[in-house]
Amino acid sequence: MYDTGVMLRSRPWHRWVVAGAVLVGIFYLFPAVTFRPTTSTAIADTRFLTPAPLSNLPFLKELLKDNGLGPEVEFASRHLKYRRNAETRPPLSQIPNKLFPNPPQTINIETVTTLPQLLPPVTLAVENSPRPNEVDASALIFGVSTTYSRFNDDAAGPLREWKRWLTDGNGSSNGAALVLCLHEATDDQILLAQTKLEGVGIRATVQHSDSSLDMPGRYFSLINALYNHPSRETRSYFGLIDDDTFFPSIAALLSMLSEHDPSKPYYIGAFTERVDWMMDHKVPMAYGGAGVFFTAPVVKTLDDLTPTCLKKNPESGLYLEWGDQGDLLLYNCLHNHTEVILTNVPQLHQMDQFGDPSGLYESGELPLSLHHYKSWHRLAPEKVHVVTDACGLNCIFQRFQFADDWVLSNGYTISAFPRGIDFDIMKMEGTFDNGLAKNGVEDVSLSYSFGPLRKNLAGTGRKISWSLLDARSDEYGRVTQVYVKRRDDERWLAKDEPKPRLDSVIVLVWEL
Ligand SMILES: *[C@@H]1O[C@H](CO)[C@@H](O)[C@H](O)[C@H]1NC(C)=O
Ligand SMILES: *[C@@H]1O[C@H](CO)[C@@H](O)[C@H](O)[C@H]1NC(C)=O
Repeated sequence: MYDTGVMLRSRPWHRWVVAGAVLVGIFYLFPAVTFRPTTSTAIADTRFLTPAPLSNLPFLKELLKDNGLGPEVEFASRHLKYRRNAETRPPLSQIPNKLFPNPPQTINIETVTTLPQLLPPVTLAVENSPRPNEVDASALIFGVSTTYSRFNDDAAGPLREWKRWLTDGNGSSNGAALVLCLHEATDDQILLAQTKLEGVGIRATVQHSDSSLDMPGRYFSLINALYNHPSRETRSYFGLIDDDTFFPSIAALLSMLSEHDPSKPYYIGAFTERVDWMMDHKVPMAYGGAGVFFTAPVVKTLDDLTPTCLKKNPESGLYLEWGDQGDLLLYNCLHNHTEVILTNVPQLHQMDQFGDPSGLYESGELPLSLHHYKSWHRLAPEKVHVVTDACGLNCIFQRFQFADDWVLSNGYTISAFPRGIDFDIMKMEGTFDNGLAKNGVEDVSLSYSFGPLRKNLAGTGRKISWSLLDARSDEYGRVTQVYVKRRDDERWLAKDEPKPRLDSVIVLVWEL
């Protein structure tokens, strides 16, 4: 029986190569597909017309070359057929099939002329959630304050990510509006930003932020910008975000928000995940990076309170309400002058943990928001998100465990467990590193949010992970994901275990 160790340790599998060579010539034919969206918010989907054979080879050749992988690589691939007919989205779905019943092949990506493609697809059932082009987010308006140089920066700029959750993914708005207030921007730069956003289909209003205000003040004054937006009457939920806040499923976000009557006063957000910081700050406030949402009555109240709450002590220069951060100033303003209290939604994530974030991303949770993915940890959420073009917004980060104990955390990693899953996979893995060794709270800092964490498997040889390198979707609604494990990645080696000879590549293709 093929076990997961084969991808790492070399074993004689020549016979598989011979069998594979026979099968390589057999082309998998894509079935004709007719698709009718079934959600009420769905709009016409024109993508699923005449399926053509999929050629991932040129894409893969370029991608691996650009990333310095290969040319000789270990290669495995699987097609996943998704059915949008599951009742729920569980944190772990058991799949009766093996993901890789055959061992991987070795190919030279520079010289290969056709990709090995041997097996019939595995069928996965997912919840029927809308795709990015099937969701109506017009109940939402967001305010964000940043600098022009950050907005315009290729690496730090948010445009790639905003395209994923503010548009249909193909140049048109999903109905949500964005008010972008830019600090340190010329009139020309405001126009440039406006043009850039419109160019990708984002319904944006770009304006100068008030240069007389400091950072907390600029954040607070987003309330005024949202309140004065011409579309105010048509919006139900008003969000304040950071420029590195990402919403994996705008559909799931809407469904959470819709549990709160938009005509009643609501202040919705999330605490930090770190209980030590809660205790230090002593404030049950919504931490801004996770996204903070208000209903219209609260926006009105805060707008009325703005002159009061932005008053400073002329001598100290400090806000009378107290707050060196915008989210705290906002909380103090509400707390000091109203009866509005926070509705804490822990699925919104401020992401205050440091170190390897995979514990959370591999937990099977559908996070309602993500943050700090360009600073305290690294993630390219716009690549993770591509798979939602196929299996719908709520299949992002969904976890599937196959019969051979391979686990897919959709869009993030594929993991193998050479010794089997001999731990409680329903508990979150303690991959994080908050650098708390000195103050002795490492065991509780995150456990109030994430539950008691199980041991980190890195460096034990018990877990081997392939991480998403890139993904793309085509006009037939198919999504190709490329996951890689580099030969020099030491995280997956046991002590004294030699490094593998080759980089390793897994390609998954999602199709109807
Ligand atoms: C508002 O509340 C904060 C504590 O939440 C306090 O430090 C501050 O002095 C209060 N400001 C006013 C003007 O009441
Ligand atoms: C994207 O939009 C263009 C122009 O509106 C259209 O021709 C194309 O089919 C769309 N592509 C997808 C994948 O929906």
